[in-house]
Amino acid sequence: MTISEALNNRRCMRAFKQDPIPREVLIKVLKDAAQSPSWANSQPWEVFVAEGETLQRIKAAYADCYAKAVKAEPELSRPVEWTDAAKKRQKGLYPDMVRDCGDAAQQFGVLNQRMFDAPAVVFLCKDKILNHWSVFDLGAYSQSLMLSALENGLGSIVAVTLVNYPEVLRKELNVPDNLQLIVGIALGYTDENNAINNFNSARSPLEENVTFCQ
Ligand SMILES: Cc1cc2nc3c(=O)[nH]c(=O)nc-3n(C[C@H](O)[C@H](O)[C@H](O)COP(=O)(O)O)c2cc1C
Repeated sequence: MTISEALNNRRCMRAFKQDPIPREVLIKVLKDAAQSPSWANSQPWEVFVAEGETLQRIKAAYADCYAKAVKAEPELSRPVEWTDAAKKRQKGLYPDMVRDCGDAAQQFGVLNQRMFDAPAVVFLCKDKILNHWSVFDLGAYSQSLMLSALENGLGSIVAVTLVNYPEVLRKELNVPDNLQLIVGIALGYTDENNAINNFNSARSPLEENVTFCQ
């Protein structure tokens, strides 16, 4: 698989099989991700991997929060404003999912709430004193991790819903007070039988985002 093939074939998977991920595969993926660039090689990512009973407890606590309609409060606040261009692209997301996945698209919300039934979730944190440049570095780390996952036979999804209830994660993962929870990445073997994984999100033509200046 070339890098270009990986970039073009990686898509977020939203339903996983229950099979656990061998520890050596997880370690390979995490080592690959650690090769990501960062400001002055600061490597600001602090990573917590939830599996097994710990992840089961997190999923159960999240289910309880959703059942009680507890307000989701990720520690990195959600965006407040979008450009018209971004709004237009976002509007196309769900119709395109219905086009590709049919009725399975209706599971979008519930699968988010169930953490996509993933056997492993990687939570990315940074120290609270670090600013948005370190979030930038975590973005690079996320993409590296997901591309390595793909090469190692795993599906992945980066999702803010995974960090909807930081207090649950802080308790179960013993996240130190100095850290801010930024995002989660669910990993697992893709459930090919769930049509929600057929979603192939579109990209804008280059002219929309790129300006050549000669
Ligand atoms: C920071 C970030 C947060 C995201 N949060 C969610 C989420 O909460 N739930 C979800 O289903 N997808 C989430 N996504 C996945 C995006 O919807 C997805 O990346 C986008 O639609 C492009 O599709 P693709 O990744 O399959 O190419 C998130 C992606 C990013 C980068």
